[in-house]
Amino acid sequence: MSSERNRRTPAAGKRKVVVGLTGGSGVIYGIRLLEVLKKRKGIETHLIVTPAAAITIKAETDFSTSYIEKLATKTYRFGDISAPMASGSFSFDSMVIVPCSMHTLGAIASGIADNLVVRAAEVTLKERHRLVLVPRETPLTLIHLQNLVRVAEAGAIVLPAMPAFYERPKSVSDIVDHLVGKILDLLEIENNLFKRWEGFSST
Ligand SMILES: Cc1cc2nc3c(=O)[nH]c(=O)nc-3n(C[C@H](O)[C@H](O)[C@H](O)COP(=O)(O)O)c2cc1C
Repeated sequence: MSSERNRRTPAAGKRKVVVGLTGGSGVIYGIRLLEVLKKRKGIETHLIVTPAAAITIKAETDFSTSYIEKLATKTYRFGDISAPMASGSFSFDSMVIVPCSMHTLGAIASGIADNLVVRAAEVTLKERHRLVLVPRETPLTLIHLQNLVRVAEAGAIVLPAMPAFYERPKSVSDIVDHLVGKILDLLEIENNLFKRWEGFSST
């Protein structure tokens, strides 16, 4: 019976993660996530890149959009509302939007599913799959804060792009890996991308 089905383990066996890259700063987090997941056996990534993300890719990195698209198992057009993940019948495990712009956050919070990223996020929430949002903006307006509360109340996990410094990062890449490791933890994918805090050494 469908009510007994474990919705987080699709019948096909491979874990399917939908990844949305939107036009917030920090697109490198999403690129690194795709690079790590590409090397993992048993995981498929289904990628959607917004037009604004294509601009931040150009502004913030030396990667081409085609390189990034090849990291994913499959890539979908932003406007393709007929793509599989636009339907609740698509069998997948989780969705990550990294970075998540305030525009996309607001659209998810308001239920305005007029593009594939927002529709896939809506489907993820309604089907009770895991939705991880990595919002990036500073400072935040009251509208941003209220939208974050709304998506959290609807079941999304909000993982802000906020670096931690307890592992004494030596490079931007250390900071990026720490955040990507936190995303993987939430997807329940084992990783050692960052050093876990174990308290101060007693010696
Ligand atoms: C270089 C650059 C950096 C940006 N950084 C942010 C940001 O950190 N957060 C944000 O919410 N929007 C940021 N924006 C604006 C978004 O890209 C813009 O609101 C866009 O409409 C988002 O569309 P999308 O959600 O469909 O990707 C940035 C734009 C550019 C060009």
